[in-house]
Amino acid sequence: MPYYRVAGEIPRKRHVRFRRPDGGLYAEELMGEEGFVSDSSLLYHAHPPTAIVKSEGLDDAAAEAGIVPNHPLMPRHFRTQELPGGGDLVLGRHLLLANDDVRISFAAADAPSGLYRNSAGDEAIYLRSGCARLESVYGSIDAGAGDYVIVPRGTIHRWIPGAAGAAGGEPALAQALVIEARGHIRPPRRYLSQFGQFLEHAPYCERDLRGPDGPLVAEGEDVPVMVRTRGGMTRLTYAYHPFDVVGWDGCLYPYAFNIADFEPIVKRTHAPPPVHQTFEGPNFVICSFCPRPLDFDPEAVPIPYNHHNVDSDEMMFYVAGDYSARKGSGVGIGSITLHPSGFTHGPQPGAVEAVIRGLDEGRTTTDETAVMIDTFRPLLLAPAGRRTEDPEYAWSWSRAARG
Ligand SMILES: [Fe+2]
Repeated sequence: MPYYRVAGEIPRKRHVRFRRPDGGLYAEELMGEEGFVSDSSLLYHAHPPTAIVKSEGLDDAAAEAGIVPNHPLMPRHFRTQELPGGGDLVLGRHLLLANDDVRISFAAADAPSGLYRNSAGDEAIYLRSGCARLESVYGSIDAGAGDYVIVPRGTIHRWIPGAAGAAGGEPALAQALVIEARGHIRPPRRYLSQFGQFLEHAPYCERDLRGPDGPLVAEGEDVPVMVRTRGGMTRLTYAYHPFDVVGWDGCLYPYAFNIADFEPIVKRTHAPPPVHQTFEGPNFVICSFCPRPLDFDPEAVPIPYNHHNVDSDEMMFYVAGDYSARKGSGVGIGSITLHPSGFTHGPQPGAVEAVIRGLDEGRTTTDETAVMIDTFRPLLLAPAGRRTEDPEYAWSWSRAARG
């Protein structure tokens, strides 16, 4: 995160004596990225954050089983609507796609998660529907439909679907795309000044980001926390509840950004996906396609041209609206498509003509919303996604072309 926040009580200087009401010292903890040379925060705990009493390895083998290359090479269509709902936003994840840089899952959660820390990388949770509260050592964030919630690596947190305080009237089931990076997820570098402020050309800025509210303190002893590392999942039992932070300050904390606050950039003729970029991770990008005016040159072809991203696989999650370019493909709300390197993709045959007819009839905007992830290493296929696959999708362009 590029900017400084403070919550709760902190001492006047770093690394000085800061006492509890009973006279004892608070335990200072630095959460810092990239050794000591990137963003960090200082947290003040009532108890030592080092005090653990037990460590148990959890069997994670099932989560890793059955992941295979996209071979034979095909464009894919997964229907997340067919995945079973229930469970929580941590252990209820259905892994769809993965490589060494990123793991992409879907969850439809109705239960609170246990305490969880991902020490393998940052997570971005995109809530497609419902609402959920993130509770963390930094405080709480109430998230609703359309929110990306970025959870930095190492943050101890839990998810509570349908938590009070989130947008009223939403269903309790929190449907989410879960993006686990093997590194950090950040705003694109080109949106930021050399000191980290969002520049004027960026499609969003600091005012659009919501950090945690004040400290969140919970009581408890012998509290389990699931810790994900590259080696698997471990259950560490802490002597005291990790939510014992009375104050913190710094530039590292979870935050939320709503897709409706993304300001689309439009051109006279069609703009390529980098104008939709929202975040970047190690060897991948996350883009937001939002409702916007269609390209406005009188001769413009106002939907994407066929394209072959020779260096990347492209995953698209169809969130809302009417996806004109994909009519006739079987793709609908909740669908996920994978267009891999080695395959040229584009609009369904006839889609361009249909949109031009719509323009002639006065339809000059598009109401589509989608989240796209482009990865620079091939995505492997996980069993949960393959069980929902539409086997006819790969032939949908030729079917339409031949009538
Ligand atoms: Fe594409």
